[in-house]
Amino acid sequence: MITIIGSGKVGGDAALFSALKHLDDQILLLDVVDGLPQGEAMDINHMLSEQGIDVQVTGSNNFADMKGSKIVVVVAGSGRKPGMTRMDLLKINANVVKSVVENIKKYANESMIIPVTNPLDPMAYVTYKSSGFEKNRVFGMGGMLDLSRFRQFIHEATGHSRDSIRALVIGEHGENMLPLPRFSSVSGIPLSSFLSKEKLDEIVQNTKQVAAKVIELKGATVHAPGNAISAIIESVVRDRKQVIPVATYLDGEYGHSDVTIGVPAIIGKKGVEKIIELDLNDEEKQAFDLGVKNVKEAISGMGI
Ligand code: LAC
Repeated sequence: MITIIGSGKVGGDAALFSALKHLDDQILLLDVVDGLPQGEAMDINHMLSEQGIDVQVTGSNNFADMKGSKIVVVVAGSGRKPGMTRMDLLKINANVVKSVVENIKKYANESMIIPVTNPLDPMAYVTYKSSGFEKNRVFGMGGMLDLSRFRQFIHEATGHSRDSIRALVIGEHGENMLPLPRFSSVSGIPLSSFLSKEKLDEIVQNTKQVAAKVIELKGATVHAPGNAISAIIESVVRDRKQVIPVATYLDGEYGHSDVTIGVPAIIGKKGVEKIIELDLNDEEKQAFDLGVKNVKEAISGMGI
């Protein structure tokens, strides 16, 4: 079973996409708000029935119902409002995530946890530390979402099929995120063959800022995060061993320890199966290290 804790728009979309991809026969939506997960589940089941998809989505307010889940997505907590940074949610959401993780330990102690709640990297750290799970079983969804935006901007700038575009974003899922043009391509052809440095710099900046723009326009980001969550789940449940940037615990990789931040990793049935260390140039390393510094400062303030 796949459990999604937090049945708001992103959690609902993650359940919807996971069901449409048949990622499990059972998907559970959990929330503390009476009726919300139940209503969301009913709405999705009605859609699945018309499509003839026999995935059962259930809604519940009882954490005990997640018993036996192999994957638990944590998207509970507050989302940012227009004008807020993700880090502004640190205090509000840290306690929510800690409380949720206590329930995961109690009812789904063998599961893998995919934190989504913002600020993602510190929340992934809270999840890892308070769960006591092995580090391969905790991997936050951030970079997968950022790279989906990076790909869109490359698609718009080049006109090439989205299917031909590979893009990588690592580091903090926040103000210091690091889109990597050098590690992105159109069918393996370097982006520099298609786009000027100025255009690439513009695309990198747009990638960093576009979530705030979507929130300003429609109040929240929904479909892109919901999809990114389901894509990570798919790599696990189908043991696809895709290389995906996830927020996972570093123990010396990239020269850092005791921090959780977005790095490329092989994602398969065991979760994080291997962290891939890129040969970053000085400018990239400096940007990555700035993100680590920001996340570590946030973590230190949480007294974990
Ligand atoms: C975003 C939120 C999920 O980037 O952090 O859309």
